[in-house]
Amino acid sequence: MKPKIILTGDRPTGKLHIGHYVGSLKQRVALQNTGEFDKIFIMIADAQALTDNFDNPEKVRSNIQEVALDYLSAGLDPEKSTIFIQSQISELTELSFYYMNLVTVARLQRNPTVKSEIKMRKFESNIPVGFFTYPISQAADITAFQATTVPAGEDQRPMVEQAREIVRKFNEIYEPVLTEPEIMLPKNEACLRLPGTDGKAKMSKSLGNCIYLSDTADDVKKKIMSMYTDPLHIQVSDPGHLEGNTVFTYLDAFCTDEHFSRYLPDYANLDELKAHYQRGGLGDVKIKRFLNEVVQEELEPIRERRKEYEKDIPELYEMLKKGTEQAREKAAETMAKVKHAMKIDYFA
Ligand code: TRP
Repeated sequence: MKPKIILTGDRPTGKLHIGHYVGSLKQRVALQNTGEFDKIFIMIADAQALTDNFDNPEKVRSNIQEVALDYLSAGLDPEKSTIFIQSQISELTELSFYYMNLVTVARLQRNPTVKSEIKMRKFESNIPVGFFTYPISQAADITAFQATTVPAGEDQRPMVEQAREIVRKFNEIYEPVLTEPEIMLPKNEACLRLPGTDGKAKMSKSLGNCIYLSDTADDVKKKIMSMYTDPLHIQVSDPGHLEGNTVFTYLDAFCTDEHFSRYLPDYANLDELKAHYQRGGLGDVKIKRFLNEVVQEELEPIRERRKEYEKDIPELYEMLKKGTEQAREKAAETMAKVKHAMKIDYFA
C-alpha cells in the first residue's frame, strides 16, 4: 500500500490566529496523534511569503520564529511531525521550474485564489511573475514529499486542484512517479472560514480583527466582549438573528455540549441557546461571556506551552534545522525520480 503522507504549511507573514487554528492546525495535531499517517511534513512557506513580500524580507524572517512557536504551542510534536523551512530546500525551486512547462498562463489566471489575491493586493496589471506562479511552486511543495493528504482551509482547494492537474500531466507525459494529493478540510462547517471579530469575512492582520494564539487572556476577553453580533438585537427582549452573527459562528466552531455543563448549565447544548436567542430575552453579554470561557479553555494550554518554548529560541532553530534536513532527503529522492523520468539524469 502507498504510504500515507501529509504535507501542509503556512506563510510566515504574521502570528497565527484562531482562524488558522480551527481551519487546519488543530486538525494537524489530531492527525499527528492518531498515528495513522506514515509521515507528516509541516512547512513554513517563507519562499511563498516572499512572492508578495519580496520587499520586506525582515517581516518574513522574523515570523519564522513566531510560526514555529505557534506550531509547537498548538501541540505539533517534532518527534512525530517534521517541521521545516521551505526556502532551504532548493529541490522545491527546481521542481517548480520543470512544472512550469505543464501549466498555461490561462490556467493560472483562472485559479480563484490567485484571482482574489491579485484583487486584494491591487496588483491589477502589474502582477509579479513570482506571485503569479506560486500555485506551481505550491504543487512542487506537495509533490516533493509525495503527499497523499493536504490538511488545509477551503481557500487552498484551488491550489490542491492545480497540483493534481500537474501530477496527472507529469505522470502521463513522463513516468508515473508523482502522487496525486487530496485536500482534507475540517469537518465542522464553521471552521472552514472563521470570520474576523468584526464580522468581516476574513481574519486579517491589517483589519485588526484577529484573535491570535499568542494573545494574552485579557486581550482575548476584550476582543470577544467587543465582537460583532446582531445589529438588530438592541434590547435583550428583541428576537436575535444567527446569520452573520460572529459570536454564534465562533460557538459553532469551538463549543461542545460539555462546555455547556461546565459554564452555562441552563442550556444542554448550542441548539437550545440559539433557540432562546432567536425567541428573544437573551442578551449578547451572556453569550460573549460563555464564548470567552470556551475559547480561553482552548487557548490556555497553548499559551502555557508557548511560554516554555520561548525560553529557548536556539533550541527552536535547532529543531527547524533538523526538520529541514529530514525534509530535504525526501525532496531529493523525488527530485532524482523526476529527473530520471524527464531524461535529464545524464550523470546518474
Ligand atoms: N498557501 C499556504 C498559505 O497561504 C501555504 C502553503 C505553501 C501550503 N505551500 C503549501 C499549504 C503546500 C499547503 C500545501 O498559508
